[in-house]
Amino acid sequence: MNYQQLYEESIRNPEGFWRQQAQRIAWSQAPEQILSRDEEGHYRWFADGLLNMSELCLDIHVAEGRGKQPALIYDSPFTGHRERITYRQLLEQVSAFAAGLRNLGVGYGDTVIIYMPMIPQAVVAMLACARIGAIHSVVFGGFAPHELAMRIDDARPKVIISASYGIEFDKKIPYKILVDAALKEAKHKTDFQIYYRREEGFDSLGGKNELDFEALLRCGSVGPKQVAATHPLYVLYTSGTTGRPKGIVRDTGGYATALHFSMNYFYGMKPGDVFWAASDIGWVVGHSYIVYAPLLFGCTTVIYEGKPVRTPDAGAFWRVIEEYKVNSFFTAPTAIRAIRKDDPEAALKQAYDISSLKQIFLAGERCDPATYEWLGKVTGVPVIDHWWQTESGWPMLGIMTGLEEPHTKAGSAGKPVCGFDVRILSDEGTELEAGKEGNVVVKLPLPPGCLPSLWRNEIRFQKSYLERFPGYYFTGDGGFKDAEGYFSIMGRVDDVINVSGHRLSTGEMEEIVAGHPDVAECAVLGIADELRGQRPIALVVLKDGALCSEQELEAALIELIRSRIGPVAFFKNAAVVNRLPKTRSGKILRKTMRALADGSSFSIPSTIDDPSVLDEIRAVLQRRQLGVAFQPI
Ligand code: COA
Ligand code: AMP
Repeated sequence: MNYQQLYEESIRNPEGFWRQQAQRIAWSQAPEQILSRDEEGHYRWFADGLLNMSELCLDIHVAEGRGKQPALIYDSPFTGHRERITYRQLLEQVSAFAAGLRNLGVGYGDTVIIYMPMIPQAVVAMLACARIGAIHSVVFGGFAPHELAMRIDDARPKVIISASYGIEFDKKIPYKILVDAALKEAKHKTDFQIYYRREEGFDSLGGKNELDFEALLRCGSVGPKQVAATHPLYVLYTSGTTGRPKGIVRDTGGYATALHFSMNYFYGMKPGDVFWAASDIGWVVGHSYIVYAPLLFGCTTVIYEGKPVRTPDAGAFWRVIEEYKVNSFFTAPTAIRAIRKDDPEAALKQAYDISSLKQIFLAGERCDPATYEWLGKVTGVPVIDHWWQTESGWPMLGIMTGLEEPHTKAGSAGKPVCGFDVRILSDEGTELEAGKEGNVVVKLPLPPGCLPSLWRNEIRFQKSYLERFPGYYFTGDGGFKDAEGYFSIMGRVDDVINVSGHRLSTGEMEEIVAGHPDVAECAVLGIADELRGQRPIALVVLKDGALCSEQELEAALIELIRSRIGPVAFFKNAAVVNRLPKTRSGKILRKTMRALADGSSFSIPSTIDDPSVLDEIRAVLQRRQLGVAFQPI
């Protein structure tokens, strides 16, 4: 079947289509019920199926003769450490660590937070949770203690698994201090904290609840617990429009089916291939395409603890591709922009043989055409932009390279992936014709693998995704479709921005800025950034009698955001304005300000109280040299 036939079949007959795809994974009890509804009326896939994700990722491959194949390749240019871990070795470590967790009283349905750098032990921890039916929640290491504390209070974990430190170039980020600070702030108390000690004597584990990761590996071994397909494998928090992150729930059976399908038909992989997603396990890309999908499919996955540049130079990625004969490589456009900035002619690439590479996939943020063209030119392999979200768990738009030639278009994120009926709707909910920009939605039911709900927050799930356009899942993105059926995703239509491929909430930053004693009101907006795609700035109206200067306020707010959210927010500027644009009824016109800051075209809303405020803001942005239109390098 070609792409068009398979796609149409997936939309016409989703149950039949996914029944067939589900047969490709090893269930301990194959599902009879393919698509059903839960008590809230939400769609559920494979409700009566039983399986275990760690068994699918490990035991089955060992039983089928892949025991000696590397499952993980760990490469840390920061420490110089390189290691290959076979499927058999990974199975042993996961079974042992799972036994260690069980000995601590962690069991089916318990939650576990994993706050770790890019080391193999993080993968061991994730798979060990899956083995015993515990639900993991991985928190990105670049988040500050406050962010970790919010996740602790929402997920209520029995244990936290962490490590001595993460590494950022030449800096060691001591995680134990961050975990301690988070636990102090959180209301929920964990039973144990487990630390992987990266070097002798770096941190002392004093408290009786603080345990050594290695000690847990000496508690025997456990087999995989069979769980229902609908059992949550993990909760992954992502930024929404408010200060509280959303806990995206991922089921087990639908996810396994979707990931397996995607490796075959979307990424065009074969078991035994080497797949490298240069992301972090703290993001959805890390969950799906560093850990679960490559292992589920019998590939070798690369755990890279480094950056695209300065580790040691902009040839870092080419070196890894050559050394491990990577077949498919996945990264964010920001990483490519960083390489291009340091090595515009890709001279460093000449030293490496990257002939193993079949294709490169980009996602996480909009890919500007200049970056796309440059990457294709210097590597000579197809570059495939593809679009998805934490919520979807796997690609929604792209080119299904397992089914068709990679005919891509610069600036476009491709065509709908099987199972996703993607549409463009106006604000009023009518479908827009080709070329017209609107809200990107997906007609329900979503295919397997997508979020069934938000963690313990049904109301927010309804409000965030289902209420705005009944019968559709609302993605929060804006975009358009062209006459040939290719979609372009232009950016978020809500208070979320994408900084270096990291999804962040301007709403949350606004809450923090508004908390400063001199701030009367404020707006945090994303402006174009030539390396990071976007970065946040604040426009601030001062309280009467405020004493601090613009410079002092800016410094204080930078520190505040860094300490509350973390360095990844990359918040560097706050500008003082006299007033913010509002409607006559006093509502701040955020959409208009967003367009003003990111340089996109907009019409002045008829409801605006005083249009001259827009000129005032424009003048401030110009004075501060903020919000200049995106200039690709
Ligand atoms: N732990 C702790 N701190 C982290 C971190 C982590 N995991 N990740 C980033 N940070 C810190 C950085 O050290 C930096 O701190 P600083 O202000 O003290 O210097 C800050 O957060 C900003 O980080 P970043 O925006 O990543 O800037 P950078 O200069 O360190 O690196 C790039 C720039 C382009 C190389 C880097 O952003 C990159 O590799 N981006 C690609 C991201 C990606 O792959 N995303 C995929 C998501 S699908
Ligand atoms: P996350 O949930 O962190 O993966 O972020 C998802 C968001 O990143 C999407 O809603 C988009 O706004 C953006 N995004 C991801 N991939 C792309 C892409 N290929 N093109 C444009 N935007 C993208």
